[in-house]
Amino acid sequence: MQLQNTAKKPRPFRTPKMSCLIPLLIFSFLPALLPPSLSLPPAPPIHCNATAGYCSISNAYGAWGDRRTCIAPSVLYPSTEEDLLAAVAESRRLNNKVKIASGFGHSIPKLVCPPPAGSLIISTAKYSAGVAVDVARRTVTVDAGVGLRDLVDAVEAAGLSLPAAPYWEGVSIAGLLSTGGHGSSWWGKGGAVHEYVVSMRLVVPAAADEGFAKVIEIDGSKPDLFNSARVSIGLLGAISKVTLALDPAFKRSVTYDYRSDDRFQDEFREMTKLHEFFDITWYPSQRAAVYRLDGRVPANSSGDGVNDFIGFQSNPTLTSVAVRATASLAFGNLVGPGLVGPEKALDESKNAEGKCAMAAAIFAAKKLAANGLKNNNFIFTGYPVVGRQSRIQTSGSCLHSSPSNPFATCAWDPRIKGLFFYETTAIFSPSSFRNFVLDVKKLRDLNPQNFCGADVYNGFLVRFIKASTAYLGQADDSVVVDFNYYRADDPSSPRLNQDVWEEVEQMAFFKHGARPHWAKNRKAAFAGVGKKYSGMKKFDEVKKKLDPAGMFSSEWSDEIVSGEERRNGDGCALEGECVCTEDRHCSPADAYFCASGIVYKQARVCRFSSDSFVS
Ligand SMILES: Cc1cc2nc3c(=O)[nH]c(=O)nc-3n(C[C@H](O)[C@H](O)[C@H](O)COP(=O)(O)OP(=O)(O)OC[C@H]3O[C@@H](n4cnc5c(N)ncnc54)[C@H](O)[C@@H]3O)c2cc1C
Ligand SMILES: *[C@@H]1O[C@H](CO)[C@@H](O)[C@H](O)[C@H]1NC(C)=O
Ligand SMILES: *[C@@H]1O[C@H](CO)[C@@H](O)[C@H](O)[C@H]1NC(C)=O
Repeated sequence: MQLQNTAKKPRPFRTPKMSCLIPLLIFSFLPALLPPSLSLPPAPPIHCNATAGYCSISNAYGAWGDRRTCIAPSVLYPSTEEDLLAAVAESRRLNNKVKIASGFGHSIPKLVCPPPAGSLIISTAKYSAGVAVDVARRTVTVDAGVGLRDLVDAVEAAGLSLPAAPYWEGVSIAGLLSTGGHGSSWWGKGGAVHEYVVSMRLVVPAAADEGFAKVIEIDGSKPDLFNSARVSIGLLGAISKVTLALDPAFKRSVTYDYRSDDRFQDEFREMTKLHEFFDITWYPSQRAAVYRLDGRVPANSSGDGVNDFIGFQSNPTLTSVAVRATASLAFGNLVGPGLVGPEKALDESKNAEGKCAMAAAIFAAKKLAANGLKNNNFIFTGYPVVGRQSRIQTSGSCLHSSPSNPFATCAWDPRIKGLFFYETTAIFSPSSFRNFVLDVKKLRDLNPQNFCGADVYNGFLVRFIKASTAYLGQADDSVVVDFNYYRADDPSSPRLNQDVWEEVEQMAFFKHGARPHWAKNRKAAFAGVGKKYSGMKKFDEVKKKLDPAGMFSSEWSDEIVSGEERRNGDGCALEGECVCTEDRHCSPADAYFCASGIVYKQARVCRFSSDSFVS
């Protein structure tokens, strides 16, 4: 994306080739892809085809882990609690399965997929009008489908703030709660949004004489229900309304502090004590750790800054296509969700040096642009950036078109064939986080170039959430690590440094016992997940009571929650559907064979046979 609106554009990288590229792309892509209106807000995740007689549901990236389409016979769009109750009751009466989808669909695992027959998808896309702030009690009650942006704006208009939120605003309140959505904090209730839930209204199946469905009100006075419902990955029933606890409105003061990456694994505890919303972005190939020094300041502090995170800014469509697809385009003024340059060509030609040049350029450009922080809504003029909580806590300007950016879209929108990547999110205890980092550093030190692929995105984002009593939440104070890396268009194509990313993934989940985030990750990360979440048994007991017929479960969600490996066909390890045990799980035809890890020897990874690992 272009660094427009920033004070210091990275002019030295600008390339004259851009002008040749634009006409080419206009003619080849525009007529086919752009709808009559000029902007491209994300496509709804659900599409129905009346001729074929079924609907399909995807996620925002347009591809599930197994690349198979998920279909359902029909979809309902309730706009009130009564409609939602009626939809669940009718499904129960017909003995149908139900999955609840949001209007956003931003989760990666195939949790919302129902069986293809005898089922219904209920979307909350139109159940999103209700936002009621109770100023005296300092709470807000919202309908399940309300988007995070609408929520935090309404709360702040009433003089209050929601302390925690995911960094991405394009999610519904029920969707983000269901998957344990979080920001970063070890202060107070901490960074996970479900810690701020005061009560919830849940629609669950009921006996025929109760009308086949009922609404139950859940709060802290019923701990079993409360601890199950706050993080329930769509399995417990349909969330209808949520009441959240709020603080008096506050502002935040943010500074990105660039440091060497020598000591962050030892300094993080101290730093989390000093800064309420502390996080770290680690760029292993750049040997840099960026500390986010971020804390509350009084609401009357001066400053009207905004965190317009660069990865979530609007991308001109043409640029994003070019970023992934065009080998001749040098990187430069194209700074994506951390992505610049001809990623796809570099990956396919196994050009690690090219990827590293790209990673270094992006790193420099993001540093200049303060990662999207703007002191006054338009430009970055210097640290600290002070702004209202709602403008700092979450962002997603790519969701909103503007006259100056009519072709705006989010960079990963499948319709523009822009960015396509995996996202791994591993949740550690503090001591295993430290050991994980030391292991990754060992692997990095053998050949730092191998890590440029993640630094082209956002490196390793390290965040903090506090211990929770939610059964599918984190039982202890935890450290959350996210990293993104290139995914091939063709599921059978191996990727550059495939083996490295698989080793890091297995180090995290197998060696250091990390728990997977429910909304992220490839299938392999969920292996044995039932044992990792200590509340899983209690959650299952509550589920059996509320939903004895299992109407909110499907084979797809069962597969994630049970963590069982089911598909071990040829090439299954390439997309993390399995961990390889035989060469055919990789891609022998492309010389990718199943091999041991380098630092974590027990890892089984797909490695290119002529890769010389140590440079
Ligand atoms: C760019 C990006 C950045 C992100 N950043 C963060 C981050 O900083 N922190 C973080 O924690 N996560 C982050 N996420 C993940 C995101 O928070 C989750 O994917 C979230 O679940 C998405 O919400 P959604 O409304 O799209 O839910 P969906 O993906 O539509 O649904 C998620 C789950 O919730 C269930 N569900 C939805 N509504 C209901 C309901 N009314 N009743 C019962 N079940 C329901 C669904 O069945 C499904 O199981 C990010 C995702 C993206 C794409
Ligand atoms: C709808 O389904 C029909 C019949 O299967 C198919 O021919 C058509 O291309 C589909 N339309 C869309 C928009 O996918
Ligand atoms: C902010 O408000 C407090 C009292 O609530 C006051 O003491 C302080 O001077 C104010 N600061 C500014 C910058 O206005």
